Amino acid sequence: MENIIFRALIVKEVAQNVFERNIGGKKISELPDGDVLIKVLFSSLNYKDALSANGHKGITRYYPHTPGVDAAGIVVESNTDKFRVGDEVIVTGYDLGMNTSGGFGQYIRVPVDWVVPLPRGLTLQESMIYGTAGFTAGLCVNAFMEKGIEPKDGKILVTGATGGVGSLSVAILSKLGYYVVASTGKLDKIDFLKNLGAKEVIHRSEIFDTTNKPLLPRKWIGVIDNVGGNTLSTAIRSTDYDGVVAAVGLVESEKLSLTVYPFILRGVSLVGIDSAETKMPKRLRIWDHLASDWKINFDGIWREVPLDSINDEIDKILNGQQVGKVVVKLW
Ligand SMILES: NC(=O)c1ccc[n+]([C@@H]2O[C@H](COP(=O)([O-])OP(=O)(O)OC[C@H]3O[C@@H](n4cnc5c(N)ncnc54)[C@H](OP(=O)(O)O)[C@@H]3O)[C@@H](O)[C@H]2O)c1
Repeated sequence: MENIIFRALIVKEVAQNVFERNIGGKKISELPDGDVLIKVLFSSLNYKDALSANGHKGITRYYPHTPGVDAAGIVVESNTDKFRVGDEVIVTGYDLGMNTSGGFGQYIRVPVDWVVPLPRGLTLQESMIYGTAGFTAGLCVNAFMEKGIEPKDGKILVTGATGGVGSLSVAILSKLGYYVVASTGKLDKIDFLKNLGAKEVIHRSEIFDTTNKPLLPRKWIGVIDNVGGNTLSTAIRSTDYDGVVAAVGLVESEKLSLTVYPFILRGVSLVGIDSAETKMPKRLRIWDHLASDWKINFDGIWREVPLDSINDEIDKILNGQQVGKVVVKLW
């Protein structure tokens, strides 16, 4: 197998901090050592992939590189008893697509500890409609449940709602009976968000406080925040007694300015979400939920593109213009 040439997105640094992205050929022998060689049938596009594809050194230090933090496919070589040739598997997170050749290539080779058997109830393609975004949404829902938040307790705010994590969060929470308020910058996507189950859709300017007050009127019992910055600060200051805010992303800003009052006067919990390094027992539990009792109706939330179209899709996600999930078909 080592001499087989496969197709992959290859990002090169052609001059200092100048990057070029092309579909090219790569040999299996160029993949890093690992326990399991996987033929990747589907991947999915995440914001982090776009950063890696654009030369973000905080994500990917060394180029040439193949991004793609998600991959679903079939085991073609295994040096472990845990997986056999022909097994259907998923890999999301860890170092995949960061400094390890990722899912925007037709093969990956990874350590056994990164590999999740495809849960019963999902196809490989469906697993990549979720991808890291859906898994992350699942971690947030799990955080609410662990803190005892039930649908009757109040409204849940989802920011960056038309994005990957956002749209899947809206869909999963709605399926579970929660009252979801979706915040977006794309008011032409109200129908899309309502079809996913959002009860209310608001413009993101409505949750961007400029008064700097330490506490704001109580609106949310839970928040899934994909954007960070003043939006996250506003959300925390607007969260009700014993509410939970899940910090996921930073598309607005990585900064967070606050006083301690929401925590000590309202008992608000700020929960950090890290999908990449989630430990295997919890990882398997979340995937099982996504495949069974939390499984959503995927209609209208995703589209499939071939690897050849990935460059345009990367530009769109970098500009905040993606809606729902993009699944990448590798073969
Ligand atoms: N912690 C983790 O484990 C984890 C896992 C996955 C992703 N993430 C992070 O979560 C964030 C979302 O990831 P994603 O893959 O879902 O990306 P995405 O599909 O691009 O979604 C981001 C959404 O945020 C909104 N947005 C974009 N620019 C904005 C701005 N300047 N201010 C406010 N909102 C803006 C847009 O939605 P609207 O137009 O609807 O507002 C956009 O669709 C990223 O920061 C990503 O790195 C973290």
